[in-house]
Amino acid sequence: MSRFVSTSSIFAPAKLNLFLAITGRRPDGFHELVSVVAQLALGDTLQLEPDEGWSMTCGSSDVPVDETNLVLKAARAFAAATGERRGGRFHLEKRTPVGAGLGGGSSDAVAALRLLNARRAQPLETRPLTELAASLGSDCPLFLADGPLVMRGRGERVELLPQRAARRLSGRRVLIFKPAFGISTPWAYGQLAAGAPASYRPAAEVEAALARWIEGEDPAETLLWNGMEEAVFRKFVAIPTLLDELRSAFGLAARLSGSGSACYVLVEKDYDVSPVMQAIRNAWGESAFLMDTYLR
Ligand code: C5P
Repeated sequence: MSRFVSTSSIFAPAKLNLFLAITGRRPDGFHELVSVVAQLALGDTLQLEPDEGWSMTCGSSDVPVDETNLVLKAARAFAAATGERRGGRFHLEKRTPVGAGLGGGSSDAVAALRLLNARRAQPLETRPLTELAASLGSDCPLFLADGPLVMRGRGERVELLPQRAARRLSGRRVLIFKPAFGISTPWAYGQLAAGAPASYRPAAEVEAALARWIEGEDPAETLLWNGMEEAVFRKFVAIPTLLDELRSAFGLAARLSGSGSACYVLVEKDYDVSPVMQAIRNAWGESAFLMDTYLR
């Protein structure tokens, strides 16, 4: 008897925090934030094939494929929530760098949830799926949305940007670059909690600034803000050094993404990025990750 094998595949985009304000620390230790996030054309591909039990492989050797991988955690959480008995074998083609603040692992986990949900006769509705995603990580729910969005709370409250504002982001060209080292997200938040109180911005002030940008006509460049930068830049000085150079030499809007270590600059469609790429290579060497991509 031949075994029926059907492989399904899905794109798992990376994300950029174009605006990231941390408004305080919660009693549970997590931070309250208000963030404008856009997904990128850069991302991973996740495949699922029916199998007994759960397993995964990855095209890149520096990604663990054991139970610590969020893809397998997502699969087990999905099975527990739905009573699903079938297992599966995942294969991940990794393109998003890890430890970058680009949400790669979170996006892979949501891709797994989407693949598993798609093969069910009665898929989970958006709400339980969002709750499941939030239980896996603060940056997971945003990957269930399609288009630029605002995320609040610890990341579990996601709202699509109004179309007029989303149009000022979607399709914008960005250069993403990351030094050879990564930055741990818990470490970065720990720095805020341990003594960078100036990094917290009052929620009312943040919401007012965001509402002005959403309702106005200003381009993406005027939105960019990252409240993590101060704490991260104090230790990883190679990052502000390069960002300052890109601002002064090329007049570009340059920021850290999330807790880093990836950074980005916004550029016009026809902009010649070769001198910018050369400046990045000069500062961070050949092992730096560099990608010319765009916001979805
Ligand atoms: O939710 P996730 O597992 O991705 O978060 C990793 C760590 O980052 C948390 O343990 C916490 O230290 C920090 N974090 C936070 N506030 C957030 C998101 C993450 O303090 N909103």
